[in-house]
Amino acid sequence: MTKQNPWFETVLEAQRRAQKYLPPSVYAALVAGSERGRTPQDNLDAFAELEFAPHVLGHKADISTATTILGIPVSIPVMMSPTGVQAIRPEGEVAIARAAANRGTIMGLSSFASKPIEEVVEANPNTFFQMYWTGSRDQLVQRMDRARIAGAKALIVTTDWSFSIGRDWGSPQIPEKMDFKAIWNMKWEGISHLPWARSWLTGGGLPDLTAPNLRNPETGVAPTFFGAYYEWMNTPPAQWEDIAWIKEEWGGPLMLKGITRVDDALRAIDAGVDAISVSNHGGNNLDTTPASIRCLPAVASAVGDQIEVLLDGGVRRGGDVAKALALGARAVMIGRAYLWGLAANGQTGVENVLDLLTMGLRSALLGLGHHSIESLSPADFHIPADFARTLGVPFPAHETGRSVPPSAV
Ligand SMILES: Cc1cc2nc3c(=O)[nH]c(=O)nc-3n(C[C@H](O)[C@H](O)[C@H](O)COP(=O)(O)O)c2cc1C
Repeated sequence: MTKQNPWFETVLEAQRRAQKYLPPSVYAALVAGSERGRTPQDNLDAFAELEFAPHVLGHKADISTATTILGIPVSIPVMMSPTGVQAIRPEGEVAIARAAANRGTIMGLSSFASKPIEEVVEANPNTFFQMYWTGSRDQLVQRMDRARIAGAKALIVTTDWSFSIGRDWGSPQIPEKMDFKAIWNMKWEGISHLPWARSWLTGGGLPDLTAPNLRNPETGVAPTFFGAYYEWMNTPPAQWEDIAWIKEEWGGPLMLKGITRVDDALRAIDAGVDAISVSNHGGNNLDTTPASIRCLPAVASAVGDQIEVLLDGGVRRGGDVAKALALGARAVMIGRAYLWGLAANGQTGVENVLDLLTMGLRSALLGLGHHSIESLSPADFHIPADFARTLGVPFPAHETGRSVPPSAV
């Protein structure tokens, strides 16, 4: 039998390896989605609907993929979107952060992550810290202070979550903590996934499933994942004034993640944010929200150059990155792509994913005859007539006779 090359050639192959490596309950928690699972699928399908218009000659030899995100130079327009990566590998977010640093890009660290921000910033000084609107204002200030002292370069605030639970294919049972009962219940998953179980046993013990970045500074105790989720569910939802308050308290660059509507994008500018991510939370939130790439053109054209526009959701290939940039994103964020890489081959697997996206983006630029990502435009693609979605248009369509803002694609 031939030995498998540890290097994988597409993110989908990394996903296949991740599915083999991880216990089914861990894999299912990463695949996620909600209700029908239509939105995560649309995030993937929509990219494939955009068709390249490549040139046959006139390709450029010297190609640059470098840009900046919130003032930070990056070698590729791809950064890590925050995800709580509990129980994939013991190195967790530190491995992801190091891979991102090695490939010259930014780490987004979730407040539900398994590693403390101090360790992650040490692995990658260009780390953005992500917060949900959870707990009291005093707690939020404490978390922002801790992130600032640790050296986080920007804050990502995610407010799109609407606690839409339930999947037609069922949800995995996730233990509150890794006590004897939980280990006993997971024994067959562990036995049938020995390399995964071994990595934890040799890597310092089983995952404790706590959120160290939400640690109470007085007691020093970090809540369990479910404890943190309970606090979040019981926190009154954030309003626009709260985003303005966060901006003032934080004082540094701020990204609001989860925008799909034009009116929300414009309000975000008024609230003082420096960047938004057009995102549907990877399709884990309200199912049948359109793919984020469908919402991008209208949002990007309404926002113009006032703030930076990023996109996340469904990015698996370098060509997807090119498409998002052509439709108005400055850069993209990836979620599951690096989770599959981490499961498939640890830090090297995450680097493998970033290399694939870089190579794919360079191929797209070469075929389209561009020197750099700045030259990408909608003219590089065939965009089906019914592709884009314009949500939350600030003027009624019947008054203008148009269903999209004038400058939208
Ligand atoms: C397992 C998982 C956990 C996530 N956790 C968070 C989180 O803690 N904070 C957050 O802002 N987004 C979270 N997200 C959403 C991602 O940041 C991102 O929006 C999404 O994964 C992008 O879609 P993609 O996975 O198709 O790339 C999570 C996504 C997944 C799949």
